[in-house]
Amino acid sequence: MRTVRTLGLLGTGVIGGGWAARALHAGIDVVAADIDPTMEERLRGAVANARPALDALTEGMRLPAPGSLRFTTDIGEMAEAADFIQENTPERLALKRAALAEAARRASADVIIASSTSGFMPSELQAGLTHPDRVLVGHPFNPVYLCPLVEIVGGAETSDAAKAASQEFYESIGMHALHVRKEVPGHLSDRLQEAMWREILHALNDDIATTGELDESIVYGPGLRWAVMGMNQIYMLGGGAGGARHFMKQFGPALDLPWTHLKAPPLTDAIIDRFVEGTAAQAAGRSIQELEAVRDECLVAIQRVLAKHDMGAGKALNAFARRLKD
Ligand SMILES: NC(=O)c1ccc[n+]([C@@H]2O[C@H](COP(=O)([O-])OP(=O)(O)OC[C@H]3O[C@@H](n4cnc5c(N)ncnc54)[C@H](O)[C@@H]3O)[C@@H](O)[C@H]2O)c1
Repeated sequence: MRTVRTLGLLGTGVIGGGWAARALHAGIDVVAADIDPTMEERLRGAVANARPALDALTEGMRLPAPGSLRFTTDIGEMAEAADFIQENTPERLALKRAALAEAARRASADVIIASSTSGFMPSELQAGLTHPDRVLVGHPFNPVYLCPLVEIVGGAETSDAAKAASQEFYESIGMHALHVRKEVPGHLSDRLQEAMWREILHALNDDIATTGELDESIVYGPGLRWAVMGMNQIYMLGGGAGGARHFMKQFGPALDLPWTHLKAPPLTDAIIDRFVEGTAAQAAGRSIQELEAVRDECLVAIQRVLAKHDMGAGKALNAFARRLKD
């Protein structure tokens, strides 16, 4: 597989824009393709918007000069110019397969094609493509320029070399590559988020809580500690001096209680309205852009504190700094 100097993007919405910002900041050139020509302005705006947070996150690091950004509406042109392609089209299987097929036809055999898909399995995406062995899932998190996690998932036909090369590329732009050993719908992280999301929809549907109250139940407690240690290690600490075994003994019986539904309720207009109106009330007049700026500033500060202890996402930041130094 090749050294990545130019990243090709297929789809330049929320996620494509995040990939562009992260890669450019790490000195990689980007050639971005979207069928909608109006996306060029949006993409350039998204990249400019991400820059202050990226500068703050990597302050003191020896970064190369930023890469250059080119936009095209021609998928084939992008595929021929790219050393690595990241697909970020809407989450619709037929649409993704068609866009990937066009890119795969035009890209050399040694160009990896990764999909940002939130839930499709790589085997579903790669079947029938030209050189399917270099096709895999590289699932990021929004905002891609600040969240270091990328889940790498190979399908039935993906080669080990492609998985290893994608890890090398993702780490070169400051990310933490998590290999998902078995392909399953939703990979790892989205399965966990989806379980919680289904319970949130039930709570809205049953009028148990507002979106604001549900978010309070996360940000003042569990969410605060998840960034440091995740769920399992934190639960071990929940067992006190008795640790993980005591935790299991104490909370194991609750698993038989009807705490969770797991199956989502039907998505009625009433639930959608509660979600939309609830989150608008929480925003209290602040625009999406204002909220993104606050989110970004906090994500930077949290990661810099975590880096001091080489914990959680701070580990990825330290690894990136070491790599740049070497
Ligand atoms: N938004 C998130 O939080 C998030 C997080 C992780 C992964 N993802 C995944 O990333 C992917 C993209 O999501 P998004 O939120 O950026 O979507 P989006 O709607 O913001 O952007 C999709 C872009 O793809 C373009 N597009 C549509 N058809 C195309 C084609 N045939 N060729 C090229 N471009 C095309 C659209 O014009 C649009 O600009 C999805 O698979 C999604 O599941 C999203």
